[in-house]
Amino acid sequence: MHTPHWHFVKKRTADPAGGAVYVNDDRTRYRRTGGEGLAAEAAYQRQLAALGYPVPQVLEDGATHDGHTFVVEESLGERSLHDMALESLDGTRTLSDTVVDLAAEVGARLLRAQAAHAVPADLQALRAWVHTAGWTDNVFAENPDLDSPRVRAALDRAVAQLAGVPMVRGHLDYGLPNVLPVGVIDWQHHGLVPLGYDTALALEIVPFKGGTKGYLASPEQRRRYLETLNEVARATTGQSLNHHLAAFLLVKALFFLALMLPTDPARTDKHLKWQYRRHLFTEVLEQYERTGAVDPARFPTLDDFAARHGAPGHP
Ligand SMILES: Nc1ncnc2c1ncn2[C@@H]1O[C@H](COP(=O)(O)OP(=O)(O)O)[C@@H](O)[C@H]1O
Ligand SMILES: [Mg+2]
Repeated sequence: MHTPHWHFVKKRTADPAGGAVYVNDDRTRYRRTGGEGLAAEAAYQRQLAALGYPVPQVLEDGATHDGHTFVVEESLGERSLHDMALESLDGTRTLSDTVVDLAAEVGARLLRAQAAHAVPADLQALRAWVHTAGWTDNVFAENPDLDSPRVRAALDRAVAQLAGVPMVRGHLDYGLPNVLPVGVIDWQHHGLVPLGYDTALALEIVPFKGGTKGYLASPEQRRRYLETLNEVARATTGQSLNHHLAAFLLVKALFFLALMLPTDPARTDKHLKWQYRRHLFTEVLEQYERTGAVDPARFPTLDDFAARHGAPGHP
């Protein structure tokens, strides 16, 4: 039988087992390697597929000769919505409406599948979501000053505010790079989330990249995207997602601060990015405390932040 040849795509981000992603010759299949986390990811993805989620079919999984885990899945296509967003830039920094519409379509499909298989909500599940999705063990270890009564109070407020929102099987790293027109890949960081946490933030989180992604969603695009999701949320829970966005963003700002502490003090570029994410978390916290709402369009870009803090340039 023909043995497939696997081409290296990339190392897996944030994988303690040092896993990687490969693609076959005709690009119809992807293969991931990893440790125990990858086995759990494949099991989760199989469960999601059985529940009708728009995810790649897992075709094969097992152990490699050196004792690692491997998983093969179908390709969902050549280009993520992030790739499409970059390709369609026309000299301005505004996202193309086509990409926004596709994002809304896939987001609505995922949200519908999530809502159809909600699990009973309770405060303990919400606290577990803050812990897992916000990587709080890591963030507080790397930033001990943030392990404070003030931050704990804001997180408690977010949990209280979300009480009663259905909990659903979630992605935790949902964003345009992991969304393709026919579904959602990369379920590495899965777990239960309050309905809307993944999908509602897809355009809201673009500014966390510091303006280095090349595109931004306009207020009108963000409104239109959210309205599509709100229709699904209202039909399933009777509530729109808008009131939950700030609480979601508080947890997301922690997620973006995780694993940012540079191990090599010579890496001033990494130090700057860590400080930038610390700043964004603080800004989210302040906006949330002051108004109960958070507008990521008000974040400084990484360049603004670097200039303001007199930091040396970054690549
Ligand atoms: N099933 C798939 N269909 C299409 N592209 C895929 C698929 N799996 C992986 N890829 C490609 O490989 C890249 C890396 O895979 P991913 O699991 O997202 O890694 P990471 O955890 O590092 O983000 C993706 O961004 C995408 O371009
Ligand atoms: Mg990915």
